[in-house]
Amino acid sequence: MKVIITENYEELSKVTANIFAAAIKENPSIKLGLATGSTPVGLYEELVEMYKNNEVDFSEVITFNLDEYVGLDKTNENSYNYFMHENLFNHVNLKKENINLPDGMSSTIEQSLIDYQLKIENLGGIDLQIDGLGENGHIGFNEPDSALKLNAHVTPLTESTIQANSRFFDTIEEVPTSAITLGMGNIFASKAIIIIANGAHKAKAVNALVNSTEVTTQNPSTFLKLHPNVTVIVDKEAAKLL
Ligand code: F6R
Repeated sequence: MKVIITENYEELSKVTANIFAAAIKENPSIKLGLATGSTPVGLYEELVEMYKNNEVDFSEVITFNLDEYVGLDKTNENSYNYFMHENLFNHVNLKKENINLPDGMSSTIEQSLIDYQLKIENLGGIDLQIDGLGENGHIGFNEPDSALKLNAHVTPLTESTIQANSRFFDTIEEVPTSAITLGMGNIFASKAIIIIANGAHKAKAVNALVNSTEVTTQNPSTFLKLHPNVTVIVDKEAAKLL
């Protein structure tokens, strides 16, 4: 596991965007695994800026998002579909047909998840996966539990995740209580994984990810220690317990 500590959030976003841009240049039809939340907002801003400056071309890139709330339509401002369009997709030359997200409104969710995973597999798998880090160590929405799921699934969100995500909603009651997420097996099948985290509130989680000497389902991020190509990029604040 490679660890990069940056001065601040801006540098974290720039360093990560440079890795993305280089990977896209090397493989223009790269399959990117994308995430939402606060942490990657700066990364997406940087990528949009690079696109505007002709430094990166998304015309052949294919994207798969990690997760989506159950029950939120893509027109809902809190859906991850909406977030991705607002923060990245609407501003770069990604082809519509190359954008993939789990469908939180599907009436046949189980089948739609099988299809989603098959599409990833048939295209050769995700080359580069980005994700933030839950304060409780969740990866995607693979929440701490007595066992972790390998495949894409619907999961109830833990109280702490609902609390953490309520900042985006008017009231906590509006936060969906379940979500679709790719499973740990899907995430592990990615050829390279980058985890980004910033701010003192992530310091404990970052310390557990980097320094714990055991893997435990009670902290899903610790399983990343077993993956051969993981880079953790954190700002000074998030790195303060390392
Ligand atoms: C979102 C996702 C989540 C977030 C995590 C951190 O697609 O996969 O695991 O990365 O909850 O969220 P933020 O970045 O808002 O602190």
